[in-house]
Amino acid sequence: KESKAEVVPASSEAAQKLKISIYFATWWALNVIFNIYNKKVLNAFPYPWLTSTLSLACGSAMMLFSWVTCLVEAPKTDLDFWKALFPVAVAHTIGHVAATVSMSKVAVSFTHIIKSAEPAFSVLVSRFILGESFPMPVYLSLLPIIGGCGLAAATELNFNMVGFMGAMISNLAFVFRNIFSKRGMKGKSVSGMNYYACLSIMSLIILAPFAIAMEGPQMWAAGWQKALADVGPNVLWWIGAQSVFYHLYNQVSYMSLDQISPLTFSIGNTMKRISVIVSSIIIFRTPVRPVNALGAAIAIFGTFLYSQAKQ
Ligand code: 3PG
Repeated sequence: KESKAEVVPASSEAAQKLKISIYFATWWALNVIFNIYNKKVLNAFPYPWLTSTLSLACGSAMMLFSWVTCLVEAPKTDLDFWKALFPVAVAHTIGHVAATVSMSKVAVSFTHIIKSAEPAFSVLVSRFILGESFPMPVYLSLLPIIGGCGLAAATELNFNMVGFMGAMISNLAFVFRNIFSKRGMKGKSVSGMNYYACLSIMSLIILAPFAIAMEGPQMWAAGWQKALADVGPNVLWWIGAQSVFYHLYNQVSYMSLDQISPLTFSIGNTMKRISVIVSSIIIFRTPVRPVNALGAAIAIFGTFLYSQAKQ
């Protein structure tokens, strides 16, 4: 495998732990920055299909450049690799665009509260679609996750059905993406970084025609004039920042997924959401009612219980 140690000797276990901790901290920090710029863009230029496409285009361009200039060794892929990647790319595209549509309609914190229920989706998909069963405590831990998200949604001041459904669809799509990705990466000679690069390129090809059909150049041109009039040329920098940080945080998350189990990944992802929820509430001055915050706290506590039960 490119740049990956298969067997970790006991002496380097601490180094491996340190490496994963650095990946996690970097992933969370990059994700917070992405979420802030993404929302700033969506407030000024509310075209989530285009901004989702630009994020994938930027990442694809960065990686193609890295391969051509030999900054990163290009992956050796065959037709089977791309065929196996296709369902992952479909799930990634749906999950990405659904989350962005959600964030264009509701507060970033609300999207991420609903997205903290991803482990519950993971258990339900594993149970009903893959036929895996879990011990009772795992199912019981879903109650606070689902109940907490339900309470947060019911008491959300700016509830919007499209925003809610977008986050739910994203949860479902990303569960499939993570299961298929981990399978696709297993035993393959493609590193996490290159795997995510190939995923971006394929998702871009899938998403671009849909973005044109759903929004299209006419809407984008009119929206752009308005964004320039309201915010000025800064909006261009924000689009650049959200696109670059989108690629970077996902790349680092895939570099982690390459080294850890999907369970550890999903726990890391939920912890990441706490930083996003707190920072976005502060930066965007999102109004929060105590009962709403209680719902979010119960859901996140449920995720903690879930991780304990699953271990
Ligand atoms: C996206 O646009 O893909 C979402 O913001 C991703 O959400 P997540 O990586 O935090 O699940």
